[in-house]
Amino acid sequence: LQPTLHAYRASLLHFTADPAFDADAHVWHADGLLIVDGERILAAGDYATLKATLPDQVAITDYRGKLIVPGFIDTHIHYPQTDMIASPAPGLLPWLETYTFPTERQFSDPLHAREVADFFLDELLRCGTTTAMVYCTVHPESVEAFFSASAARNLRMVAGKVMMDRHCPAFLQDTAEGGARDSELLINKWHQRGRQMVAITPRFAPTSSDAQLQLAGELARAYPSTFVQTHVAENTDEVAWVASLFPKARSYLDVYEQAGLLRERSMLAHCIWLDADDRARMAATGAAVAICPTSNLFLGSGLFDFAAADAARMRLSLATDVGGGTAFSMLQTMNETYKVARMGNTYLPALRMFYLATLGAARSMQLDGTIGNFAAGTEADFIVLDPQATPLLARRTARTDSLEELLFAFAMLGDDRAVMATYSAGQIVHRRSGVQRAD
Ligand code: GUN
Ligand code: ZN
Repeated sequence: LQPTLHAYRASLLHFTADPAFDADAHVWHADGLLIVDGERILAAGDYATLKATLPDQVAITDYRGKLIVPGFIDTHIHYPQTDMIASPAPGLLPWLETYTFPTERQFSDPLHAREVADFFLDELLRCGTTTAMVYCTVHPESVEAFFSASAARNLRMVAGKVMMDRHCPAFLQDTAEGGARDSELLINKWHQRGRQMVAITPRFAPTSSDAQLQLAGELARAYPSTFVQTHVAENTDEVAWVASLFPKARSYLDVYEQAGLLRERSMLAHCIWLDADDRARMAATGAAVAICPTSNLFLGSGLFDFAAADAARMRLSLATDVGGGTAFSMLQTMNETYKVARMGNTYLPALRMFYLATLGAARSMQLDGTIGNFAAGTEADFIVLDPQATPLLARRTARTDSLEELLFAFAMLGDDRAVMATYSAGQIVHRRSGVQRAD
């Protein structure tokens, strides 16, 4: 008997490739079995086939009628902005001044930071998000608090200390050298400690001096397995500001390229106001896009151009951008992603959106083989979606005729209520209230 083995019976869906470019990209088992060995996936397949390989003593958790998919990955979110989600302002720059900076000021207090980090992680898990790329604040204490909270739950998370040494209130400013030194200390302490990973995090070009961007680029070169995260081309006022601050740069994106910040494991949020050269540079360097539709619509920033991104073969992922984003749920994020694509005359199937929120994100982060699908040996981060979660979902999904229609119903009608259970590294970390223990 192997006491570390657990099995889950449900419909299973995961991906091996991008359905936009590969007809055989998804794997579907209507009556499936997911076998977990300790923290990792051992096998995913048809129940009838895999059941025969299991020792009799292994308990099978019965989720028949439910759908198991890999845990969602949110590639851009600000944990300190949890308490100011849904704060109105006429655009990005006034929103930052009025709400964001005063809220982030509170994260010099480690106790406050830890309390918010714990609430934030609870909320991610309620929504089925098992990995996120997270901005902390300029305070190293905010990063300590976040990683401590994440490590205590054994979650696979990426986070970083915001670097900003100009054009922000004095209470949120670091210096070029101080910001780099603090970031390096955090890399040495937390990067690849358990499941935690560090992102070098210059907030965006307007709040970093040239010297700070150069030092961030040096760190990115010195520590190639770390991530880089920042914002680019979100809002037209911001783009004009960057053009005036960096007159020699060819474009906003070029500011980051000149600093050595475009590489694999670089995640750039928004990417709305890019040109064709920028898109080609993103694809060539391996930098990836975090598409943030609820934020972009809420702040009136603009519409992401899916057709241009796919033509350039950019690496794509979906993100909430809370607190600019208005939902923690990747299902609600898919809802608005679909509508943004429609406005650009692109039709985005639900299958593609589920790919982007799982394996697509993992590939964008160079973490495929670790998370994002059910390949043997990957970490057992998965969620149980309930087609009967609400009266309306139950009624609609009783009438769907295909996998695409079922996924589309989840994407248009689903939110945290659709997530019946969330598992991380093989352990249950969220069970929707009112749900009986199935295991
Ligand atoms: N650009 C610079 N900082 C931020 C932020 O906190 N949120 C968003 N949406 N854009 C930014
Ligand atoms: Zn953001």
